Amino acid sequence: MNGQVIIVTGGTSGMGMYMAKRFLEEGAKVAITGRNMERLQQARGQITSGAKDELLLIEMDVRNVEDVERMVEQTVEAFGRIDHLVNNAAGNFISPAEKLSSNGWNSVIDIVLNGTFYCSQAVGKYWIENKIKGSILNMVATYAWNAGAGVIHSASAKAGVLAMTRTLAVEWGKQYGIRANAIAPGPIERTGGADKLFESEKAAQRTLNSVPLGRLGTPEEIAGLARFILSDEASYMNGEVVTLDGGQWLNQFPF
Ligand code: HXC
Repeated sequence: MNGQVIIVTGGTSGMGMYMAKRFLEEGAKVAITGRNMERLQQARGQITSGAKDELLLIEMDVRNVEDVERMVEQTVEAFGRIDHLVNNAAGNFISPAEKLSSNGWNSVIDIVLNGTFYCSQAVGKYWIENKIKGSILNMVATYAWNAGAGVIHSASAKAGVLAMTRTLAVEWGKQYGIRANAIAPGPIERTGGADKLFESEKAAQRTLNSVPLGRLGTPEEIAGLARFILSDEASYMNGEVVTLDGGQWLNQFPF
């Protein structure tokens, strides 16, 4: 990854932060985005061990098209180019479908589905104009193709992002050599998802029992897979979704 330029949206915590850390350790230049500069600066303290010039902080909201365009401009201005985009920013909370307000639905769809499209389109246009064979990595969830009881907004949005991944893989792969892939993480420790979705002891235990490997995944494991997917070692991988969930989604029958 030496010298490669990578944007990671939602990079102030959890998987985004650990991916950024790993990419920096591999010699990449990384731009992380987040909605709050204070949180971005706190993340910088946790991510960098010295090479501060290689990390760019961008305060923006993926729901805002003007912010997204500025994200592209700022990154190119700071690092000279963009090689990869990791669409990691997400929003989620548990709500029964019948109780979810239209604002709650719209908010998650806007961050996850619309935000992923705005970022992909803006960076994709830059790649097409500059003849760069970049790659996109989208973070989805196994409920993008399975069921997501209690998170109908997130499941619907992630299903859309998976369709977007495969569509861009074909459309931009064929014409411009741009790759698009996805990771479907299961429950991962030290992430906003785990904190929010498994906040009660009972929910945490139920989750743990559902994973054949009997533990949560780590953000370092996600970062290792992301590094591989973005690297030249995966240069023939396009339109793929790789599950990293300890076998959780396959575990349907008690044994
Ligand atoms: C019911 C809720 C709610 C909750 C928000 N809402 N939280 N409804 N239960 N817990 C409703 C609000 O009442 C409001 O509707 C509407 O959603 C919008 O809320 P806001 O707070 O105004 O929205 P906003 O400030 O835009 O925040 C977006 C957010 C927030 C998604 C609600 O939680 C957020 O920004 N989250 C980002 C971080 C995050 O969620 N990370 C986890 C990602 S995990 P009304 O009708 O009252 O106006 C993930 C995958 C997990 O994505 C996979 C696990 C295996």
